[in-house]
Amino acid sequence: MRSQGKTIGLVPTMGYLHQGHLSLVQEAQKYTQLIVVSIYVNPGQFSPSEDLSTYPSDFHGDILKLKSVPGGVDAVFCPHNLYSDNDNNENEIDNNENSNCGVSNCGVSNSGISVSCVEEKGFGGHETWVRVERLEKGLCGKSRPVFFRGVATIVTKLFNIVEPDVAVFGKKDYQQWKIIQRMVRDLDFGIQIVGSELLRDSDGLALSSRNVHLSPHQREKAVSISKSLLKAKSMAQGGQVKCGQLKDLAIQTITQAGGRIDYAEVVDQESLEAVEEIKSPVVFCIAAWFGKVRLIDNMEINI
Ligand code: PAF
Repeated sequence: MRSQGKTIGLVPTMGYLHQGHLSLVQEAQKYTQLIVVSIYVNPGQFSPSEDLSTYPSDFHGDILKLKSVPGGVDAVFCPHNLYSDNDNNENEIDNNENSNCGVSNCGVSNSGISVSCVEEKGFGGHETWVRVERLEKGLCGKSRPVFFRGVATIVTKLFNIVEPDVAVFGKKDYQQWKIIQRMVRDLDFGIQIVGSELLRDSDGLALSSRNVHLSPHQREKAVSISKSLLKAKSMAQGGQVKCGQLKDLAIQTITQAGGRIDYAEVVDQESLEAVEEIKSPVVFCIAAWFGKVRLIDNMEINI
């Protein structure tokens, strides 16, 4: 396809697709002629105490959803194991479990896909990590210390394997989007990184694969996150530029709703450094637990 001069867009995902992912595909279609969606639950971005084993998956459903997107996708890349980290072997999962999806022409063989850059067990594993050192420190990086090195490393591998012209990431994972942008700049990948707008349910909850684990009660209460962000935005637009006040109100609202705050930070949109007063474009980022489910959300504030 490349030799025919076709341009390629990549949408990296961990599966259990929802409308938010499908909107990334539609965004990618604006930029390139061909679309590749990768589905790979990356063990390297989960620490042993995190929810890798319960991360939802529905391979068959994912394929059907991708088929339903107008314009469609051209390939679904579902590698079996992209990275074997000897320190983290207990974290390995079989990404090929569901590969016999039963949908004709879905592009997935029953025996599992093997390409040269995918190393199978017994070859000594991998030991090279990609780190975006400053940007990965704050926000999600504080409570998830291995998360971003796992993301940056696996996205590097996906880029090298798929060789896309454009890759699309959701702004819901704001820090991830900024880290990938920086990595691509710092390491001279010839890939355009597009940030696609966050999608919300009708009540405001940001779409996430993890929402499926919320009980109906938690689901209802979790809306306090987006409500707090909206309130903060309107207060800022109304002249309240002191971030302390905006954060306190959000923390109070979410805590009263039964959530447990991981962080609530107003940061500069580029450096992701915390700011005390809004003077330039910022993004208000929140992570909070409802029961065993950790949710993240954010809102850009441009005043
Ligand atoms: O955002 C995600 O789903 C993942 O972090 C990504 C980018 C696919 C890397 O595993």
